[in-house]
Amino acid sequence: MSYCQVNKSLTRVDAYAKVTGQAKFGADLTFPDMLYGKVLRSKYPHARIKGINPEKALEYPGVEAVLTAKDIPNNLFGVIIHNQQVLAERETYYIGDGIAVVAARTREAAEQARELIEVEYEELPGIYRLEEARDEPVKPVHPEMADNQVAHHTLRKGDVKLGFAEAEIILEREYSTQLIEHAYLEPEAVIAVPAQHSTLLTIYGSVQNPYATRRAVAGVLQVPLAQIKVIQDHLGGSFGGKDENVSAMAARAALLALKTGKAVKMVNDRVESMLESYKRHPYQMKYKVGASKEGKILAMEIKAEADSGAYACQTPFVTWRSVVQATGPYEIPHVKTDTYGFYTNNVYTGAMRGYGSPQVIFAQESLLDELARELKIDPVELRLQNIYHNNSITASGQRLDNHQVSLKEVLERALTASEYKAKYREYSQRQPGEKKRGIGLAISYRGCSLGAEAIDAAAANIAILNDGSITLSCGLAENGQGLKTIFSQIAAEILGVDPERINYLPVDTSAVPDSGATVASRSTMVGGNAVKNAAEKLKKTFADFVAREYETTGAELVFRDEQIYNGPGKAVTSFSEAAAAAFYQGVLLNATGWYLSPDISWDEETGSGNPYFTYVYGCQIAEVEVDIGTGEISVLRITAAHDVGRAINPAGVRGQIYGGVMMGLGYGLMEEVETEDGYISNTNFDDYLIPTIKDLPEIIPIIVENPDPNGPFGAKSIGEPTLELAGAAIANAVCQATGKRIRSLPLNLERVLIGSSLRKGGRSK
Ligand code: MTE
Ligand code: MOS
Repeated sequence: MSYCQVNKSLTRVDAYAKVTGQAKFGADLTFPDMLYGKVLRSKYPHARIKGINPEKALEYPGVEAVLTAKDIPNNLFGVIIHNQQVLAERETYYIGDGIAVVAARTREAAEQARELIEVEYEELPGIYRLEEARDEPVKPVHPEMADNQVAHHTLRKGDVKLGFAEAEIILEREYSTQLIEHAYLEPEAVIAVPAQHSTLLTIYGSVQNPYATRRAVAGVLQVPLAQIKVIQDHLGGSFGGKDENVSAMAARAALLALKTGKAVKMVNDRVESMLESYKRHPYQMKYKVGASKEGKILAMEIKAEADSGAYACQTPFVTWRSVVQATGPYEIPHVKTDTYGFYTNNVYTGAMRGYGSPQVIFAQESLLDELARELKIDPVELRLQNIYHNNSITASGQRLDNHQVSLKEVLERALTASEYKAKYREYSQRQPGEKKRGIGLAISYRGCSLGAEAIDAAAANIAILNDGSITLSCGLAENGQGLKTIFSQIAAEILGVDPERINYLPVDTSAVPDSGATVASRSTMVGGNAVKNAAEKLKKTFADFVAREYETTGAELVFRDEQIYNGPGKAVTSFSEAAAAAFYQGVLLNATGWYLSPDISWDEETGSGNPYFTYVYGCQIAEVEVDIGTGEISVLRITAAHDVGRAINPAGVRGQIYGGVMMGLGYGLMEEVETEDGYISNTNFDDYLIPTIKDLPEIIPIIVENPDPNGPFGAKSIGEPTLELAGAAIANAVCQATGKRIRSLPLNLERVLIGSSLRKGGRSK
């Protein structure tokens, strides 16, 4: 099948606006009489609020309002569990909790006045370590709860007792991963404008999930959803990070806007963002694996515990993805997995690219290498013996029979491109000098889209205007991943036009049906199918009109190259001409597309089911050089092979691979939010280190295509799979280079020099 627009590396539709500075981000927007809002945050990670006196702040010149929890109709919100406070009422549960908000005529006045708000605190002891949160005697972080458990998910297959009894070798290992920050370039920004567009409030800004933010604001204000409009256009990166925290910000700005009758803008600086925004869950994991001498894995038992911090946020779903995927892509007859999340008084944790997979992949892929070493089997051979194929039964009991299970192909493509075998042999020899090289790999499977988390549907609107130009909008949001471009390509492909014709409109919650969140790497499949559905409906109406109007007969009309053909040869009419004719004859060329993803299932009781309707497969191979004198690790090269079903925009897929690999490298080597009894010590990029261009290895992206029957043009996911593997691959490469197995991320100098020891308890620090 040859395509005109999809499967091609077309230029991003937002590229020009972005590189010329025309694109307006949240912080760029201004409105008449606009006020600036600032938040006063807690002084302590855990404290009782005994009194708040805003008087001095209210007297400060330029201040128009100071609000606290008592001014809020409904102070609690959340995407899954409604236990997050817009502003702390009786207690603060973590260091980023807001206590009061100020609106003033200038940002400076808002900042100054914030300092004048008097809060009487009673500092309380907090829970900062997982084991304190979990073990008896339990002191609940939230006084209304009996314990600290946010979530407990189970997965059961076969009988692990039986499996371990049959095993000839059993390994038990503990692994841990750290707390990290999304580090999006653009800190959070929101503007709430009252009485605009016939609504109570219009919210603009860096909102990752406009419908969730609408729900939160309407819920907090106790007003109908129809009264709140959220508009999102350009966003400076999110990586899962601009959901609950931005909803809280939007709710605060909305309250101030209603109070003052003026537009209120709130923009976090980096320190505020680091203190308040949720992070990636740190995990503590116990893995037990049993295998035969030949390397057949017979049983795996896993326990993974996540620190949820002060709020539930998305911990229930993050730990659910972990429970499904924790064994990795290996067909194992007996599996028992338990994942947990616990409240603590640490900064709360939520969605971050990978969403519960990078942690378990680090553990599972380290474990596979450890097992290979014990068995004296090559790590690749061990994996090949156990990986999923077509018709494999996954750990949750799902038969993989509705798509191509391409793990072997993905692995082999990566092995060849990285020259893995030759390098593995070479680096296994004794290496003289301080600098030792190693090569290591990691593989994964990943459920596409939300899975059994929630209803998984999306909508798109397309209109053909009377001059033949087109508007397109969808309920899913551009975060930087390239969604506007691929949706334009899909629409243009179906309608046979140049994507230049299409004006991609900002997300407007009042204009497009609720499409859920732009998460779980679901947009290409779910949103792409909605766009395709809208374009197909429109094309049908249009074709019927053209057939009538131009009295075509026989062959189906073909829309291609801006023309409409009735069989080969000369065009019947041009797209533009026909669009004008349709308009003047009263034909509606406007369609809403909808896509509801195929059925899936999950049984919490038995811990089994078909949790996702399809999967993607990936392999990353890292080659490193370790200076055993200094402990410094240089990543030389990462080969990343990913089956994306079909690449709608191959350059975009490669972009996701480059970015995902670099984020994975940061996770593997250097990133860590350092906390001490609930206080965060690295609150800016001078001491929260993320990779820079100097850390950039050679990255070899490999796109594998096995079109999926459920994807638009066969496309699946790429956003998160690219991030989840590099940390694990680097850890395996470092072990080959140095002989030291490091079981905690990040692989920083200290750990490389001293070697591995998983500290018992507490954060891996
Ligand atoms: N790429 C860019 N440039 N910016 C982002 O914020 N978010 C990631 C990933 N890639 C992100 C990104 C995350 S967390 C997800 S879930 C997916 O993109 C979402 O986009 P998709 O559904 O289109 O894959
Ligand atoms: Mo991505 S963590 O699912 O927004």
